[in-house]
Amino acid sequence: MDKFFKKFDLTGNTALITGGAGLLGFEHAAALLESGASVVLTDVNEESLSIAAERLLSSAGSTRVMTHVMDVSQLSSIKGVASEIEAKELRVDILVNNAAIDPQVTENMGMLVASRLENFPHEQWDQQLAVGLTGAFLCSQVFGSAMARDGEGGVILNIASDLSVISPDQRLYRRDNVAENMQPVKPVTYSVIKAGLIGLTRYLATYWANYGVRSNALSPGGVSNGQPEEFVQRLNSLIPMGRMANKNEYRSAIQFLCSDASAYLNGQNIVMDGGRSVL
Ligand SMILES: NC(=O)c1ccc[n+]([C@@H]2O[C@H](COP(=O)([O-])OP(=O)(O)OC[C@H]3O[C@@H](n4cnc5c(N)ncnc54)[C@H](O)[C@@H]3O)[C@@H](O)[C@H]2O)c1
Repeated sequence: MDKFFKKFDLTGNTALITGGAGLLGFEHAAALLESGASVVLTDVNEESLSIAAERLLSSAGSTRVMTHVMDVSQLSSIKGVASEIEAKELRVDILVNNAAIDPQVTENMGMLVASRLENFPHEQWDQQLAVGLTGAFLCSQVFGSAMARDGEGGVILNIASDLSVISPDQRLYRRDNVAENMQPVKPVTYSVIKAGLIGLTRYLATYWANYGVRSNALSPGGVSNGQPEEFVQRLNSLIPMGRMANKNEYRSAIQFLCSDASAYLNGQNIVMDGGRSVL
C-alpha cells in the first residue's frame, strides 16, 4: 500500500459485519477487503449470505471472507458465532452494526395504513427495534467487551441514517386520491432506531475509551436502488446535490472510519447525505 494510505491499511484485522448479505453490507465488506482486512460476513438469511460471499470471493478476488448465519436479535446466536471465531483463533477487531429490518413503504394498502403511528403494530415495533437497536447493543456487548478485555482495542461502527438527525419527510410517500389519515408514512421505528444508534455510539465511545475501543456512526442518505421514479424525483428535490447516493459511495468512509486514518475520531456521527440534512 502506498505510504500515503498506510493509515488505511487493515491488513491483519478481522471485521465482522451484521446484515452483511444486504445491499450495503456487501459494499462495507468489499471496502474492508480492499483495505486488507479479513471479513466475517453475518446475516440471518443464509441463502443471501452465501450469494453475497460468492460475489465477494469472485469480485474482490479474496479468500479473506468467512460467513456465519447470525441473528442479531438473539444473544445465543451472537455468542455462538463469537465462540466459533475464537475457536479459529481469530479476533474481531472491527464490528460493523449494519443489520436492520427496513420497513419499506409498499404497494399493499393494508400495510400502508398499518405504517401510520395510530395503527402501527406493537409486534412490528418490538421486532424492528430488536434487530436495528437491540441487535447493535447485543453485538457490541459481545464483541466490544472482547475488544476491551484483551487490551488490544478496536472499532465499533454503527450504520445509522440521515434520519438519525432529521425527521422523515412524509410528503415523499404521499399518494393521490388517498385520505389524509390513510396516507402512507415512513414508520416511527426507523427514526427511533437510528436516533437510538447515535446514543449507543456516544455511550460506547466514552465507556471503552480507556481500552482503545472507538465507536462512531455512519449515517448514509438514501441509496439509489430501483425506487419508483416519482419517489426518486421527490427525494432528489430535497437533496442539494440533486441525487441519491450510489451504493458504492460509502466505501471510502467505511475505510476511513474503521482504520487508523480516523484514530482520533470517537463518538461522532458522520452524515453522508448529499447535504440533505443541512437544508
Ligand atoms: N439502503 C439505503 O438507502 C440506506 C440508507 C440509510 C441507511 N441505511 C442503513 O444501512 C444498513 C443496511 O441497509 P441495506 O440497504 O443494505 O438494507 P438491506 O435490507 O439490503 O440489508 C439488511 C440486512 O439485514 C439482515 N437482517 C434482518 N434481520 C436480521 C437479523 N435479525 N439478524 C441479522 N441480520 C438481519 C437482512 O437479512 C438483510 O440482509 C441498514 O442499517 C439501513 O437502515 C440504508
